[in-house]
Amino acid sequence: MFEIELKPEEFTLFRNYIYKKVGISLSEQKSTLVKGRLNKRLNQLSLNSFRDYYDYLISDISGEELTFFVSAISTNVTSFFRESAQWIWLEGYLPALIASKKDKKIRIWSAGCSSGEEPYTILMFLQHHLPDFQSWDIKILATDISSKVLSKAIAGHYESKQVELLPKEMVMKSFDKVQVDSVLRYQIRPFLKQKVVFRLYNLITDPFFFKNKFDMIFCRNVMIYFDDVNRHELIEKYTRVLPKGAPLFLGSSESLTTHKETLKLLGSSIYQKI
Ligand SMILES: C[S@@+](CC[C@H](N)C(=O)[O-])C[C@H]1O[C@@H](n2cnc3c(N)ncnc32)[C@H](O)[C@@H]1O
Repeated sequence: MFEIELKPEEFTLFRNYIYKKVGISLSEQKSTLVKGRLNKRLNQLSLNSFRDYYDYLISDISGEELTFFVSAISTNVTSFFRESAQWIWLEGYLPALIASKKDKKIRIWSAGCSSGEEPYTILMFLQHHLPDFQSWDIKILATDISSKVLSKAIAGHYESKQVELLPKEMVMKSFDKVQVDSVLRYQIRPFLKQKVVFRLYNLITDPFFFKNKFDMIFCRNVMIYFDDVNRHELIEKYTRVLPKGAPLFLGSSESLTTHKETLKLLGSSIYQKI
């Protein structure tokens, strides 16, 4: 593999394009990261310059190269029961939610769900804490910009080292053991998976057509790449579909300096609609 230089004017092209298409705001310092992470791709495609790769990227109407580019420069890192303090908080909040739900309907949005650990954690949590779980009408909307991670989420196969960290009882209730290419994997059980609707959805550029409210929204570790304008607009949209009292979960390193009149910080990056 030979090293291809990324010229400043080429970086600007990528920067403008990626901001327009996905709302990701790449600072000047990210030039080295783009060069480093995309060099292999240029070699694979037998392209000699980043300008050629830019033309390739913008002419791909399938959007697959854009997905590849976004995956290369961002992170899909996730895990089951990430941000433990939030799950502890949710345990305390659950009785009030249950009491307010006479119709036994729960609707949750996992926005930027990556490979599915977050929506499946929500289900495992509810399965564990709702005594009559089966009698509830639960739907999780799980969305992401990347078709690659969504395919993983839909397959619902996880490595043993990831799943075996969970309590044994939970694993037995929520997963089936399967062999994938002669390797032991844990597959999320079908009756849980069918409660999740996975959708390809760009939080910045796709139309916000949601009319019904969500009982809670998880948007954790997603907005780290967004600039203030996009972050502000997205939070405003969330406040439109959260009823009074409902929580919005962000990543532990994320905090809001705006929307103080509509969202109250409860701690551990949990905000409540007021
Ligand atoms: C670091 S992962 C976080 C996964 C999970 N929420 C968690 O906290 O474990 C960030 C996810 O956000 C997705 N993402 C980034 N920009 C997005 C956008 N504009 N619209 C939708 N999803 C986006 C990425 O594809 C990635 O899967």
